[in-house]
Amino acid sequence: MKNEPPRIDWPEEGPTRSPYRVMNDPEIYRQEMQRIFRGPVWHYLCLDCEIPNAGDFRTTFIGENPIIVTRDADGGINAMVNRCAHKGALLCIDPCGNRKEFACVYHAWTYSLKGDLTAVAFQRGLAGTGGMPSDFDLKQHGLERVRVENFCGMVYGTFDDKLEDVETYLGPEMSAHVRRIFNRPVEVIGYSHQLLPNNWKLYMENSRDPYHATILHAFYATFKLNRLSMQGGVALGHNGWHNLLYSAAERDIQKDDYQGKGLRSVIKDVGLEDSSFLTRLQEFDDGITVAIQSIFPTCNTQQIYNTLAIRQTVPLGLTKSELHVTCFGYKDDDAELRRMRNQQANLIGPAGYVSMEDGSVGGYVQRGIAGADKDEASIMEMGGRDIKQSPGVRATEVALRGFWQAYRELMGF
Ligand code: FES
Ligand SMILES: [Fe+2]
Repeated sequence: MKNEPPRIDWPEEGPTRSPYRVMNDPEIYRQEMQRIFRGPVWHYLCLDCEIPNAGDFRTTFIGENPIIVTRDADGGINAMVNRCAHKGALLCIDPCGNRKEFACVYHAWTYSLKGDLTAVAFQRGLAGTGGMPSDFDLKQHGLERVRVENFCGMVYGTFDDKLEDVETYLGPEMSAHVRRIFNRPVEVIGYSHQLLPNNWKLYMENSRDPYHATILHAFYATFKLNRLSMQGGVALGHNGWHNLLYSAAERDIQKDDYQGKGLRSVIKDVGLEDSSFLTRLQEFDDGITVAIQSIFPTCNTQQIYNTLAIRQTVPLGLTKSELHVTCFGYKDDDAELRRMRNQQANLIGPAGYVSMEDGSVGGYVQRGIAGADKDEASIMEMGGRDIKQSPGVRATEVALRGFWQAYRELMGF
């Protein structure tokens, strides 16, 4: 039976456990592509400011499916699977640009900005011979459409026709945070891509995990950018499907948390040659300096001081994925603020002072769980065993438990 998920006995501890098998089993991966990436889920596609004018397009992914997002002549946003209806060739090879139509390089089938098939080369054949049958109907062979919605300038897509709107999907807490970040017009200031040697879910766990952030990332704690002792917490949305990890640097409540615990994360006697790197501006009234939001399944919004970004995790098979990072600022940034954003962008990305480590540690897990027994599972009991709003709590894995709850719901485990 094509759509039956493989049998898996989830540990009786529920969302405080995740069997290593879900990172290792090709059949489970195949089911995720159906049940999550083609399932009742909204997926971040791009920012609407990346395609401001008629004919602008941007290519992206939903799961492994290549996607084109376009702005049509009426100002509408369309998304289609980037797969020619003739033989399945990738239709649009460029990451972005402006086109009147899309012509396939293979046999020149041509599509409108809305994905309609408008022309088939040699449809009538040559000199009365060959060509397509007379009843071949162009209307039946457009690109596969993806339902789209623009929420606060973030463009989302889904294959599900019946799914609720994006705002309901996010829930009030997460929608409020998206509004907080997208409070005025933004513009993209750069992109980075990072190959991850691990299953896509390992990165999604990592970005929901405040426990590791100040332990693994020596730069954070050493330069006091983020310490677990700072005030902050975890907000959940949609019963834990989504979450927001936040902290406020100006409110370090226990100065000595990092002393004498054998943590490698505070490196003594190091400094920065150029301390201008640490200059920053408190630009939000709520005092929050680091806010990482996870929108199930593969989207993060990020504010690390003045670095604003969207991260999208693209699965590339069972044990490989790619992180697509879009850094942005506000259109009305002054030169000094824009300089800070650009400089602080060195925190993230494949060679970043902070997030390069996330790209390695997922690989350590993937290598560590190779050959694991079918009953072995990871443990997530930090901060309790339940899934509830956790204001003021930072030493917690509640957001990971939320992820696994959503995952089990969709996968039928
Ligand atoms: S594969 Fe696109 S026109 Fe043939
Ligand atoms: Fe991290």
